Amino acid sequence: MINVAIDGPAGAGKSTIARRAAAELGFIYVDTGALYRTVALNALRSGVENTKNPEEVIPTLTNAKIELKFIDGEQHVFLRDEDVSQAIRQNEVSMAASNVSSIPEVRSFLFDLQRNIAKNNDCIMDGRDIGTVVLPDAKIKIFLTASAEARADRRFKELKEKGQDVSYDVILKEIIERDNQDMNRATAPLKQAEDAVLVDTTEINLEESIELMIKTIKERL
Ligand code: DC
Repeated sequence: MINVAIDGPAGAGKSTIARRAAAELGFIYVDTGALYRTVALNALRSGVENTKNPEEVIPTLTNAKIELKFIDGEQHVFLRDEDVSQAIRQNEVSMAASNVSSIPEVRSFLFDLQRNIAKNNDCIMDGRDIGTVVLPDAKIKIFLTASAEARADRRFKELKEKGQDVSYDVILKEIIERDNQDMNRATAPLKQAEDAVLVDTTEINLEESIELMIKTIKERL
């Protein structure tokens, strides 16, 4: 199976770009952030108050039956047979996902699920540690990034378009906070794998980024 690993910080456009590239190549697109988000959602629903606290979060893994299904080529994530693909996108789940993802037991809990999908499918898998930990032997590794300001600006415009009343400064602060937390945790921190190609989208738009990504992958297939 051909595996493409894409890692990078929050808001770099990984999911949009990877989804389009996967469709072009006929691969499935796997968004591993959705798995951490589902663990976080389950913890919040179980009444966990501090999602950074391993003692509170680890017991909630016992009933966290998580599955990924691909319906019309689109990933759906299920928690105990409930499709939570929408519920995990709420803003409060983002920081909670970053919090639970620093707990080693959470990372090992999700490891086999990710590995098995990659073993059985041609896929583009995106996350933070795919090229470094989950799929160290991936045929192609890409580190997709953009400046924090560019990422905040895109997120701001996206939320504005949806009619949400948001502040650019708050978004920028949240992005920087999540980057710091994801890059500085002890287990599987966000970092560029040594053999990953760096793709920086600060100065290019979405369509150009998608084109660049597809070109970068095709050249290495
Ligand atoms: O990609 P995302 O924003 O949906 O991810 C949510 C959080 O999950 C992110 O802040 C860090 C964590 N995560 C991780 O630690 N490892 C991954 N492979 C994917 C996500």
